[in-house]
Amino acid sequence: MSVHKSDIKRVTTHVLQEMKLKGEKIAMLTGYDFSMAKIIDNAGIDIILVGDSASNVMAGHETTLPITLDQMIYHASSVIRAVERALVVVDLPFGAYQGNSKEALTSSIRIMKESGAHAVKLEGGEEILESVKRILSAGIPVMGHLGLMPQSIYKYGTYVVRAKENEEADKLIEDAKLLEEAGCFAIVLEKIPASLATRVAQEVKIPVIGIGAGNGVDGQVLVVHDMLGITHEFSPRFLRRYNNLYEEIKGSVENYIKDVKTLDFPNDKEQY
Ligand code: KIV
Repeated sequence: MSVHKSDIKRVTTHVLQEMKLKGEKIAMLTGYDFSMAKIIDNAGIDIILVGDSASNVMAGHETTLPITLDQMIYHASSVIRAVERALVVVDLPFGAYQGNSKEALTSSIRIMKESGAHAVKLEGGEEILESVKRILSAGIPVMGHLGLMPQSIYKYGTYVVRAKENEEADKLIEDAKLLEEAGCFAIVLEKIPASLATRVAQEVKIPVIGIGAGNGVDGQVLVVHDMLGITHEFSPRFLRRYNNLYEEIKGSVENYIKDVKTLDFPNDKEQY
């Protein structure tokens, strides 16, 4: 029997909440284009994050800061056209929400209206709470992001593990609770001690998704280019590579070049 689009049970924020209650872990990956989104959606991923890491892995910038709202909408629209099951969350890029809550809402509405995405993600706690509330008041689901926040890299100066000291850990716990109270449907915790992430996941009722935050949380997220080994220079301790596509793709291209140059390709069967 063939499966129709309408037969597929879509992942919603409610489904994610139920998964947390049942102790079923949530699997999330980034996605930025139609073809990759189709593969990871068909594989059964729960959430696709159109991350501003597109700035690094798609555009080759050193940080996530340069990517624009228009570029994020372009990536998100491509992903949405491919996805039948996963919840699609889109990062609000640097500069599209920090100014004031009205700007945050306007940017979020543009993402939802122009891409068809299902939710937005913002980096920060107490300092962006007014924006979070304003976006939520428009009926747009919001995912929080605490711990290492790459949009603030020039404030930290480094990508090392965050919240190792008590003061920063206490603020992170407080921020997580504020985001939960405001109505966020989930929170990403990036690169913090596993014990702290476990504590946050126990103290809030909404799903907590970790990246470099241990396995005591409700789910995991990785950048798809990193876990597939398309990027090969980036090797943080938290990363598990499931493939080495950099070498595989390079090898295939080398074979293609050789075949073209030696007149092996196309052969008699590969022409009209
Ligand atoms: O942009 C991104 O890829 C992210 C993940 C690291 C969570 O925010």
